[in-house]
Amino acid sequence: MPHTNSQKSKMNRRHFLKASLTGATLTTLITQPSYGFFDFNTVLEWAGIGGKGISNITGIKQPLAIPALLEKDANNKITLVAQKGETAFVKANALETWGYNGGHLGPTIRVKRGDTLNFDVSNQDIPEPISTHWHGLHVPGVDDGTGYQSIAMGTHWQPEINIVQQASTNWYHSHIHGRTSEHVYKGLVGMFIIEDDNSETLSLPKTYGVDDIPIMVQDKQFNPDGTLAPPQGGRFLGNTILVNGTLNPVLDVEQKQVRLRLLNGSNARYYNFRLSDKTSFSKIATEGGFLNAPVTMNAIPMSPGERDEIIIDFSRYEVGQTLNLISDDIEGDSGGLFDIIQFKVVADTIGDAPLPKVMNTVPNPNDFDALAWHSFALGNQAIRLDNGKASPFSMARNDLFVPINQYQKWTVSGGHHPFHVHGCSFLILSIGGKAPAPQDAGWKDTVAVEEGAEVEFILRFEHEATATARYMYHCHILGHEDQGMMGQFEVG
Ligand code: C2O
Ligand code: CU
Ligand code: CU
Repeated sequence: MPHTNSQKSKMNRRHFLKASLTGATLTTLITQPSYGFFDFNTVLEWAGIGGKGISNITGIKQPLAIPALLEKDANNKITLVAQKGETAFVKANALETWGYNGGHLGPTIRVKRGDTLNFDVSNQDIPEPISTHWHGLHVPGVDDGTGYQSIAMGTHWQPEINIVQQASTNWYHSHIHGRTSEHVYKGLVGMFIIEDDNSETLSLPKTYGVDDIPIMVQDKQFNPDGTLAPPQGGRFLGNTILVNGTLNPVLDVEQKQVRLRLLNGSNARYYNFRLSDKTSFSKIATEGGFLNAPVTMNAIPMSPGERDEIIIDFSRYEVGQTLNLISDDIEGDSGGLFDIIQFKVVADTIGDAPLPKVMNTVPNPNDFDALAWHSFALGNQAIRLDNGKASPFSMARNDLFVPINQYQKWTVSGGHHPFHVHGCSFLILSIGGKAPAPQDAGWKDTVAVEEGAEVEFILRFEHEATATARYMYHCHILGHEDQGMMGQFEVG
């Protein structure tokens, strides 16, 4: 039976009281497999909240890290330096991590539609080739940032990128076949926000880090001694949730509407986000842009690679009140709800505007005539294209050729895999034979595919991807991608 939030916090307090009593109790606690993480030095108040999965650290909250904003300089240049670092997730236990322009994760890149940007991405001291894929961006294959544009230690990659798409929340991460899982896990990940005239005009929260908050959710596996365990296997699940790299995060918010840009940057974990007091929030955007109108929701499912923007109305709460973003146990390993981040209302703010009624004009996908159709069956460490042979990914083999500017219908089947396509955004025609719900009727580039619920979508590529710089489609469970559940295609 799932725990309610108040049951959970009572339980945590009980564990803490027990843990505080004697050293013997402590030892018992930390040798139990359900408590995967412990700080020996500061004796945090903490407890696992159920089965063998997620452990929450309660009591000592850490302020949510807000990644620095990185915008173009006077010469339209944006510089990213991939580097090794050390991160003390737990005091006195510095662990090797990787990051861009810092030791763990990367800055939030923010650009505007119409920009032409000169990127300089270098690998300072990571002793293997990395890459920087702009997940969600409509750019030609040569600028896409996969293994075709790998960056060896000591070298630079300098793509010129035109921002041609609408306002949206994207992200960037390393994308070297066989190594993506570890590269992302170590921290070669950042958010990539596109604004446009529409997003700048709409009456929505838009002050970065104040009421427009990046929320990158990742799970990691900590050993009982506080060291970080590497991701293993296809469907790797960690025992600890981090948001923007912060363990047990808390964010102070004002008594007003706050926009969260949610990114599931986990290796394999799916979430179903909801609020601890069971109230609703508004979904305003999918991966590729705004929905036509805000949609009121109580829970929002997100598979790895997906982004969604939501608005929480904190004007309903008193100053001093807290609210948690929590998740259901989708993977069946944590024994109930678990915490993602806590919000604390700290100041009253007057005069918050209501949400806009119209935000976008997303076309109806049924209005496009698809001139070609392809099917993708996800499974067995490979993707079966058009009922052909299921072969694991090979950099040496092109799997598909797609004419440029042609509408196509793609059908994807499989069980519990998030399917992602490079180079464009798509519109869902149907999921399990039904038209998408309003909250899914937006531009997307990653979609959860469940057993018995085939997903059909319509897409069109407007940029070229040649034999020396192909695009990829794959499962965004990074262990699956690395095992070969990926294909590549040329557009021309
Ligand atoms: Cu987020 Cu091909 O990846
Ligand atoms: Cu991508
Ligand atoms: Cu998969």
